[in-house]
Amino acid sequence: MTRLHVISAATRPTSSGRPLARWVVEQARTRGGFEVTPVDLAEIALPFLDEPEYASSGIYAHQHTRDWSALVDSADAFLFVLPMYNGSFTAPFKNAIDFLYREWQGKPVGIVSYSAGPTGGAPAAEMLLPVLTRVGMRPAGRSLAVPGIPGLVGPEGFAAPEGLADELAGVLDDVAELAEQGAAEAVTV
Ligand SMILES: Cc1cc2nc3c(=O)[nH]c(=O)nc-3n(C[C@H](O)[C@H](O)[C@H](O)COP(=O)(O)O)c2cc1C
Repeated sequence: MTRLHVISAATRPTSSGRPLARWVVEQARTRGGFEVTPVDLAEIALPFLDEPEYASSGIYAHQHTRDWSALVDSADAFLFVLPMYNGSFTAPFKNAIDFLYREWQGKPVGIVSYSAGPTGGAPAAEMLLPVLTRVGMRPAGRSLAVPGIPGLVGPEGFAAPEGLADELAGVLDDVAELAEQGAAEAVTV
């Protein structure tokens, strides 16, 4: 079974995206075929990159890096649930990516972006793609952008607009397909 880590990239304590990430986790579990682990970047609480060696060396001086490395290493694939800030992805999330290298390599990733405005953070997702390919990840063909996020969350959690679950299912299918391809290649090598 594909071990899928759903990373909520938000770090604000009042994040509107956290309920969305929880909904994404539920949807992935309901779909089946994945062993789903929710990861909250706010709880990981990484400092600004403080490793003396390049991430590509795999030599980590700090326990927080070793813990982050082990967590990312234990995934076969990812879903990133990320907010858009000022037209792009957030600094803490880029920082979390930069901490590691080998742990990301070859792994499929689906993107779920969100924003207060009408784009649903699609520009942030677009900007993130070259970063993901730079660390050797394999982005899914489809992604999901959720506009108007503040109006979709309340005490009951995230209220998905009609059709959103189907769109997310497409992203999950793409991630599953990429993961199967990766597993098949690993067997034939
Ligand atoms: C620093 C900052 C910059 C933002 N920039 C944008 C923006 O460029 N476009 C937009 O539609 N919403 C923008 N927003 C609104 C966020 O998309 C919205 O508040 C969303 O809930 C943020 O995710 P979070 O609640 O998980 O932190 C911004 C919010 C913050 C805090």
